[in-house]
Amino acid sequence: MIPLGPLRLETPLVASSGTFGSVVEFAKVADLGAYGAAVAKSVSKDPWPGRPAPRVAGTDAGMLNGIGIQNPGIDAWLRDIAPHLEPLSVPVWGSAVGRTPDAFAEVADGLARGGVAAVEVNLSCPNLEGHTIIALDARMSAAVIDAVRRAVSIPVGAKLSPNASNIVDIAEAVVDAGADFLTLTNTIKGAAIDIETRRPCLSGLIGGYSGPALKPIALACVLEVHGALPDVPIVGTGGVRTGRDVVEYLLAGASAVGLGTIHFAEPRAGARVLEEMKDVVGSLGVTDLTELIGAVEPW
Ligand SMILES: Cc1cc2nc3c(=O)[nH]c(=O)nc-3n(C[C@H](O)[C@H](O)[C@H](O)COP(=O)(O)O)c2cc1C
Repeated sequence: MIPLGPLRLETPLVASSGTFGSVVEFAKVADLGAYGAAVAKSVSKDPWPGRPAPRVAGTDAGMLNGIGIQNPGIDAWLRDIAPHLEPLSVPVWGSAVGRTPDAFAEVADGLARGGVAAVEVNLSCPNLEGHTIIALDARMSAAVIDAVRRAVSIPVGAKLSPNASNIVDIAEAVVDAGADFLTLTNTIKGAAIDIETRRPCLSGLIGGYSGPALKPIALACVLEVHGALPDVPIVGTGGVRTGRDVVEYLLAGASAVGLGTIHFAEPRAGARVLEEMKDVVGSLGVTDLTELIGAVEPW
């Protein structure tokens, strides 16, 4: 069992929000047992239609998305999705998104009533109207986490942005406000332009960039935050494709590691990555995975 604050995970892998639907669909194509948790697509208070097409685009190294958090709203989520989560062979975390602290709190309360094991607070989506990212502002981020903390008694995670100029400031603010763990990170702002049509490849112009190129950026966030706040549990997320990537995140200070974009090319990646990780850990002569957490050696 891997400790992640008040949570205990069967494996260190976490299926990252938005990269496999509501979890229910994912159960039909993936081996959910490979994951210690699966985070459902972010949900808002009222239904959000998301952005019009085109809203995903390939790049040389990774993908851009400008989905705009299309979701049915918390009432429909409770009615249509929550009842199907309990039989799944993985703990499901909810993901809350919103525009005000009260709206986040209302969603988190709904997710908790729907039976999720934890709520991850999405402070960091880069493709909403106006491209405002709450997780760039320590005071706003703390206000949201404070409201969610008061609304639920289940564990609360804060998902932060690699666009923050000083991610340690944001991490400190959300931990002081009551976050039990941090997810580092969401996508980073990105764009691409079709030179023939002269149009951006995403209707929203700027979207979230994810996949392999994000790994060194998110890894730096994990190193910085773990260095400053060594007792705060972290889910390292960004560009993971192999068992070696997982071990790299553990060494940087993550207790668990998210898999996102890889699911689009390989829905069953979790099972492969877990086996690879076990082989790598064995080859390093390590018997207890938790020994690796934050065990990066200085020069
Ligand atoms: C198409 C797509 C949709 C996403 N939707 C969400 C979302 O609803 N909520 C959220 O917190 N993160 C969302 N993310 C971000 C991922 O959960 C993850 O943090 C990010 O993609 C970095 O990991 P990766 O490089 O392994 O994909 C989304 C990512 C992609 C590619």
